[in-house]
Amino acid sequence: MKLDVLLGLQWGDEGKGKIVDVLTPKYDVITRFQGGPNAGHSLEFNEIKHVLHTIPSGIFHPQKINIIGNGVVIDPVIFRNEITSLKKYQVNFSNLFISRKAHLILPTHRILDAASEAAKGVTKIGSTLKGIGPTYMDKTGRNGLRVGDIFTTDFKKCYEFLKKKHIDILRQYDYKYDLSNLETEWFEGIETIKTFKVVDSEYLINNFLTEEKSVLAEGAQGTLLDIDFGSYPYVTSSNTICAGACTGLGVAPNRVGEVIGIVKAYCTRVGSGPFPTELNDGTGEKIRQIGHEFGATTGRPRRCGWLDLPALKYSIMINGVTQLVMTKPDVLSEFDVIKLCTDYKIAGKFTQQLPYDVNMPIEPVYKEFKGWKKDISKATAINELPKELIDYIRFIEDEVKVPFTIISVGANRVQTIWQS
Ligand code: GDP
Ligand code: IMO
Ligand code: MG
Repeated sequence: MKLDVLLGLQWGDEGKGKIVDVLTPKYDVITRFQGGPNAGHSLEFNEIKHVLHTIPSGIFHPQKINIIGNGVVIDPVIFRNEITSLKKYQVNFSNLFISRKAHLILPTHRILDAASEAAKGVTKIGSTLKGIGPTYMDKTGRNGLRVGDIFTTDFKKCYEFLKKKHIDILRQYDYKYDLSNLETEWFEGIETIKTFKVVDSEYLINNFLTEEKSVLAEGAQGTLLDIDFGSYPYVTSSNTICAGACTGLGVAPNRVGEVIGIVKAYCTRVGSGPFPTELNDGTGEKIRQIGHEFGATTGRPRRCGWLDLPALKYSIMINGVTQLVMTKPDVLSEFDVIKLCTDYKIAGKFTQQLPYDVNMPIEPVYKEFKGWKKDISKATAINELPKELIDYIRFIEDEVKVPFTIISVGANRVQTIWQS
């Protein structure tokens, strides 16, 4: 059996959570492989909207196994809060597993994140301030604390050792902080983690695959936020791409099957960094309002703009995408004209290649499509979608040479159209 990988092809918030929830009935196991509580994955059913940060989006299907993989970074406080809020909905946690090798976000990681951002001033990344960067820095610096460590007798000592290191670094910053309450709730969170099944998830997942169980890897963030291939330094600190599923789960590349890329019908971005098709005008504001484009994790307004084909082609290339999913075309239903960026003009030259230099001014070249001006949120089949939207979809498919298998026309689980 192969591991299918689902990931965002833009700057995050493509609607991954909804699509994972929709696809979960087809799989036995759902597993997160990178990122942490910087993610906010929304899913909606029975008139209730849930936002998940650390827990995989398959959790609402009680028979399914959900795994937090080794590549994920876990904040025990946020994890505990997530568990508490999900308990109200009688969620079954007996099939939730956590990797021993997943790294822990300490309170001082969060403080370091905030101090570093404050020191950067206008050049700040626009981090979610969840401590993601500092935690991955400690992971690669070989200083990190892992979930497996919480069961050792000298865990508290190791915690104090790392905390001291952080406090020493924090002296370089002119940044005020108070750790006391943060530590109490952090250790409460550690106790919560101890009540879960902490496992060698690489064995678990590979055994599942050998037993012919189907596994879906749920990406967080998006390809253009990848630490290597995103718009560096305006990126997150993990590999958000398909290869990240191999390292973040311990699954060999030859076991990867379908790669499902999620694309919003337009683009959004939270935080700083280049965004060639950004609309700093009434059209951008209209997309933001209709699409409720405000961060699921931080509540920040998302920057909005038209779909960017050169960037999409890049993401498809980097990930080896085999199927596409389009989300939120319903948000564009009121527009007379829909624009799609087909090329970039950089320093007077046309190109489809993303420049190395993030400060390079990019002029997007647009193709215009006639808007469909129809409510599509109740459509249940492809033949119920307006011709103008089909034209938009077919044009993209022709350009990127990958088919759309799902068109999502609303946030709810049921607002999903399958294209065979
Ligand atoms: P994720 O991080 O990729 O899981 O995406 P987010 O949950 O951060 O943001 C996507 C937002 O769009 C959420 O509020 C979803 O409920 C919503 N959403 C998902 N798919 C659709 C869709 O097809 N149409 C509309 N209108 N909203 C959608
Ligand atoms: P999901 O999984 C959108 C962005 C932040 C910031 C940059 C670095 O919901 O799609 P970090 O906290 O990771 O150090 O922030 O990455 N970012 C996201 N943007 N969706 C996300 O996750 C994001 N996670 C991080 O806004 O620009
Ligand atoms: Mg999100």
